[in-house]
Amino acid sequence: MPKTASLKLEEKELSLPVMIGTEGEKAVDIGKLRAETGYITYDDGFGNTGSCTSNITFIDGEVGILRFRGYPIEQLAEGSNFVETAYLVIHGELPTQEQRAKFSASLSSHSKLPEGLTALLKSFPKNAHPMSSLSAALNALTAFYPNASTNNHQQDLQHFEEAAAVAISQTRTIAAQSYRFRQGLPLNEPRPELGYCDNFLHLMFSQPGKDYVVPKEVSQALNLFLLLHADHEQNCSTSTVKMVASAGANVFASASAGVNALWGPLHGGANMAVLEMLKSIHAEGDDGTKFIAAAKSGKGERLMGFGHRVYKNYDPRAMIIKASFYKALASLGIKDDPLLNIAMKLEEVALSDDYFISRKLYPNVDFYSGLIMRAMRIPENMFTVMFAMGRMPGWIAQWQEVAKNPKLKIYRPRQVYTGPTKRDYVAIEKR
Ligand code: CMC
Repeated sequence: MPKTASLKLEEKELSLPVMIGTEGEKAVDIGKLRAETGYITYDDGFGNTGSCTSNITFIDGEVGILRFRGYPIEQLAEGSNFVETAYLVIHGELPTQEQRAKFSASLSSHSKLPEGLTALLKSFPKNAHPMSSLSAALNALTAFYPNASTNNHQQDLQHFEEAAAVAISQTRTIAAQSYRFRQGLPLNEPRPELGYCDNFLHLMFSQPGKDYVVPKEVSQALNLFLLLHADHEQNCSTSTVKMVASAGANVFASASAGVNALWGPLHGGANMAVLEMLKSIHAEGDDGTKFIAAAKSGKGERLMGFGHRVYKNYDPRAMIIKASFYKALASLGIKDDPLLNIAMKLEEVALSDDYFISRKLYPNVDFYSGLIMRAMRIPENMFTVMFAMGRMPGWIAQWQEVAKNPKLKIYRPRQVYTGPTKRDYVAIEKR
């Protein structure tokens, strides 16, 4: 393997260091390119840009590999649960029994929202989008936990364990309480004896005097959904978290920015968009065939839940969720759902169509997750909030990598300017 790459630009020949990751990923370090040649690199959408080194998640999109801290996602999905995987993603190692119990206890003890935060959630209009409430409430945590959010990384790291527990635990409570406010329902208090997922379902669905009895399959399906979303290296929202963190911002402010990035329909908003797509296909009496033809022509909408910037073979999360999909639906007594039938038809047609095959467009995790959440009675406008709940450990772990980096530099990309060249200001009466 070469140790350097040579680049010839105009009259100058430059030797650039080559970096190799632990899984053999190769990169050319162009850090000194501009200083030595006046050139920058141009990479529209950052598809070919490594923005950092990271020890957390490894993805090989060509063959469909996803690993957290070295552990294959398939093994974690089989043997672990969301809380344990969150610990792994944040701390780098699987917890011992004692560490796991301590982590769970810390999540439980931070599950109740500060009173002022509950009042803030209550102040939002009933039709507020749940992602806007989540983003605002997460940012507001800085006001309630000032010691953990000083915008001084060294100080914030001293309170990191508490901040991580607050962010993970209260994201769940914020999600459920804002749902209760929107529905005009009385609030349920978190129950510390319940696990993370069961507590969420209790907060959402228990009624006065009638606790929600969580079906085992629903709890398992939610655990799997959250675990599969726990991290995904330098995607749009995580890169946003790191961008904000690189300026020195605290973990709550950075995670709140991540929520906003996730909201977009090309990212986390896709799980909601999949359901909307299925419903509109159904309303038009189409079985999916017309929709696919329109998507292929470029005149219609994209087939939501298909395609991925990194996975060009298959999305391993989609494989896992699909495998548990029918099991979960069967145990929830769901069959002959017209939207499910349309989804299956779309998948079948797309997987055998040259347009999708040649562009390497396969179902991604969002294609199935919306249907599973719908079966769990999670309202559609909360689907992306559920993604955020799952992704919180990843954002926290990636924030920590930035905050602990002794050689941290503020993220500050360059650009190739294509606007007007210098011109003189014209007074308004002369325009
Ligand atoms: N339906 C129809 N055509 C598509 C789709 C789609 N879902 N996705 C990509 N294409 C076409 C696109 O039109 C382009 O065709 P052409 O080469 O003829 O111009 C080609 O495939 C490449 O597309 P791209 O936009 O350059 O690909 P990208 O890597 O920039 O985009 C993506 C990745 C995920 C944004 C895109 O595939 C997409 O919009 N998918 C639908 C939204 C979705 O499901 N997003 C969830 C992603 S997984 C969860 C997450 O990580 O957030």
